[in-house]
Amino acid sequence: MAKKIAIAGATGAVGRLVRQMLEQRNFPYETITFLASQRSAGKTIQFKGETHTIQLLEPNVFDDIDLVIGSTPDDVAETFVPWAVERGTIVVDESGYHRMLDHVPLVVPEVNPDAITGHQGIIASPNCSTTQMVVAMKPLHDFSKIKRVVVSTYQSTSGAGVAGQADLIEGTRNALEEKPWDYQAFAHPIAFNVIPQIGSAKHLGYTSEEMKMVWETQKIFGDDSIQVCPTCVRVPVSNCHSESILVETEEPISAEQAIQLFEAAPGIQVMDNLEQGVYPMPSNSDDRDDVFVGRIRKDISCENGLAFWCVSDNLRKGAATNAVQIAELLV
Ligand SMILES: NC(=O)c1ccc[n+]([C@@H]2O[C@H](COP(=O)([O-])OP(=O)(O)OC[C@H]3O[C@@H](n4cnc5c(N)ncnc54)[C@H](OP(=O)(O)O)[C@@H]3O)[C@@H](O)[C@H]2O)c1
Repeated sequence: MAKKIAIAGATGAVGRLVRQMLEQRNFPYETITFLASQRSAGKTIQFKGETHTIQLLEPNVFDDIDLVIGSTPDDVAETFVPWAVERGTIVVDESGYHRMLDHVPLVVPEVNPDAITGHQGIIASPNCSTTQMVVAMKPLHDFSKIKRVVVSTYQSTSGAGVAGQADLIEGTRNALEEKPWDYQAFAHPIAFNVIPQIGSAKHLGYTSEEMKMVWETQKIFGDDSIQVCPTCVRVPVSNCHSESILVETEEPISAEQAIQLFEAAPGIQVMDNLEQGVYPMPSNSDDRDDVFVGRIRKDISCENGLAFWCVSDNLRKGAATNAVQIAELLV
């Protein structure tokens, strides 16, 4: 199956990476179609040395598509996914629109690959801040059930797409020249600043981004009893999200045990030597597919607590790589 594939939102920050992933991972296909809005339709892009014309995302394009990876905003996914499903096209959706629907599996291949079976035409890929956290939680949770997580994020501007990246670069350039910049993706200047709000006010004083981390984590592990307390913060970093994570487990896990568990887990790399200044950062995790962990230590405030630092490329594992891995599971 999936001989005829498409990328919806092929021109966006994530869509560009999906193109790169399909190319690098030699994803099998017979034909490939690139879809975007009226703004991009008719323009050309290169893929595997060939020139392709971007097509408008409209219902009939799915008449002859087996599998589409969708990297569009939520409202666009809400509209186009039914067009695809009605025509028998399987959708791997990166938007937030379908993630919490009961009939839609929410999949991270290193954590819950079996959830993909029994899908009804749509498989969702989680929010970027959730994905790296659940990959890191998985080996710990398998060793001893995680009861509670306290997570603070330091999220890059590429998490807000092409507009977010432009805001960081142009906002910083203009700030240095003491000129104003009309921010498109952020409600406050991101140059030389941090913004403790991602998304809108959602629930009990938490933002929509924070509640995604709560609800998606519980859905992926199939366990509503896992308590998650997130604070999501936008920082002036171009790419890669960082997270300070504290987990409380039923049985204690020492730092040494945690390092062994992380080292044995798929998709995780340990960078942990405080004396030598070795730990993951956006600068050494960028453009890589793994989830990187370091600063692994006992939480000295909590008997069964473990603290660590986690960095991952939000456009790759947080989005494009995870979606392409799901597509690989399908084929
Ligand atoms: N950025 C991340 O780190 C990340 C991580 C996980 C999930 N996601 C999710 O992935 C999705 C894409 O994010 P992004 O960061 O790539 O955003 P983006 O850079 O703004 O790209 C949006 C894409 O959607 C297309 N699009 C917008 N409106 C459209 C319309 N009316 N009809 C057809 N296509 C339309 C755009 O095409 P044009 O170029 O023609 O406008 C573009 O290709 C979002 O749902 C986001 O929440 C993002």
